Amino acid sequence: MIENRRQTAVILAAGDGKRMKSDRPKVLCEVLFKPMLCWVEDACRAAGIEEVYIVAGAQEELLKQAASPRCHFVCQSERRGTGHAAMMAAQAFAADGDVLILHGDAPFISAQVIQDAYAQHREQQNALTLISAELDNPTGYGRIVRKDGAVCAIVEQKDASDEQKAIREINSGAYWFDAAFLRQALGLLTADNAQGEYYLTDTVAIAVAQKQAVDGYCCPDRMVTLGANDRAQLLELNEIARRMVLAKHLENGVDLLCTDGILIGPEVEIAHDARILPGCILKGRTTIGAHAVIGPNSYLENATVGAYSEIKASYLTDSTVGEHATVGPFTQLRPNSHLGNGVKVGDFVEIKNSTIGAETSIAHLTYIGDSDVGSQCNFGCGVVTANYDGKKKYRTTIGDRAFIGCNTNIISPVQIGEGAYTAAGTTVDSDVPAGALSIGRVRQQIKQGWSDSNISFKRRI
Ligand code: UD1
Ligand code: CA
Repeated sequence: MIENRRQTAVILAAGDGKRMKSDRPKVLCEVLFKPMLCWVEDACRAAGIEEVYIVAGAQEELLKQAASPRCHFVCQSERRGTGHAAMMAAQAFAADGDVLILHGDAPFISAQVIQDAYAQHREQQNALTLISAELDNPTGYGRIVRKDGAVCAIVEQKDASDEQKAIREINSGAYWFDAAFLRQALGLLTADNAQGEYYLTDTVAIAVAQKQAVDGYCCPDRMVTLGANDRAQLLELNEIARRMVLAKHLENGVDLLCTDGILIGPEVEIAHDARILPGCILKGRTTIGAHAVIGPNSYLENATVGAYSEIKASYLTDSTVGEHATVGPFTQLRPNSHLGNGVKVGDFVEIKNSTIGAETSIAHLTYIGDSDVGSQCNFGCGVVTANYDGKKKYRTTIGDRAFIGCNTNIISPVQIGEGAYTAAGTTVDSDVPAGALSIGRVRQQIKQGWSDSNISFKRRI
């Protein structure tokens, strides 16, 4: 059993995005639509760490917008190394319990690794437990120098001898520290090295010199070390993450015939037997029910799709679709649209901020905005709710089993009662009672022989 000690996480994130050629800080570059910083914060939260500090540089405000509001921020106005960044943070909290230090640009650290390393840290009562990994190509990383198996230092690439460069065990950049040791050791750091920076990694040699317990948790999963310094590496991380997420869904019984163009965000949930066809982007808090078919070529962001529903070549944001419904091809559900069970929405239909009752059919070329539509209604082709008068938006209410004829314009605010009909081409600008028929159009006139006397024969064909 691990005793109940205080745990604090510090994410070092003061780096800029120079090599990314980005206006944003590097840690906000996204892997599967999620900033790298958020991957790291979420791993800390999933590992049960409540107190999270982020060391930010010049663009602190942008980091604040991305991270959860529970995070504490510390500013490192001058970039003087990882040790210096840790010093800025260590001043902000009590030297009590244990501190996890992580890099904000290594998104694949997991809650499991954090917890396993912590278990070893406490079991061995270490002052410092560094998380390492063995790489085939360790170039660029700090090397773990061991003597008779015991960790004695981390040497940075630029400071390493040829013999040290041959070491394949590297520093991932994540560590558990005893908080009191961390504070004391940071006070002893100097910038006496090839880069003239305060290296956090020098705390290892300090602990060894003080005969404090130090060890490495050598992580079997090399993913923990992966970071991105430029766009090409970021693309690689995206591809790794994409494959990881797809593998998880395959394991859960999701049907993929081909993975081309399928990007699924890390928080998306998909039930068994759902099928995702090529060209689909599923992101945010999207949930797909069992046996649903998504795609081809659909974009779903924060969308919920019920079991047995189909979404074909459509664009859904912040919306829900019930069970056994069909959407598309070429439908847009804009935010706050809610479709009931068995609803059919077809091509070139746009729905915004509206509820559509069960088994209603809106098959073609229609705009429904700010409306509450009942169940089992039928919309003809080309219905438009005119919900905006240039100043304000108004709601439309349509009762169950209403029949809205082709090319009906509905001037909101208006109510169409249960079972009411509107004739094709009607402009509805006052309420239609339940069961009534509304016809509002110019009566058709027939002028016999009109074209013979007005239009030349050539023109008529
Ligand atoms: C660091 C480690 C190295 C390890 C590697 C893993 C040191 C001295 N070296 O090297 O042993 O193998 O990470 O990727 O720690 N940062 C700040 N403020 C600073 C400097 C850096 O917040 O003044 C942040 C960066 O935003 C980044 C992280 O610290 O998130 C790592 O910094 P970076 O310069 O990339 O360290 P490396 O040279 O890669
Ligand atoms: Ca780095």
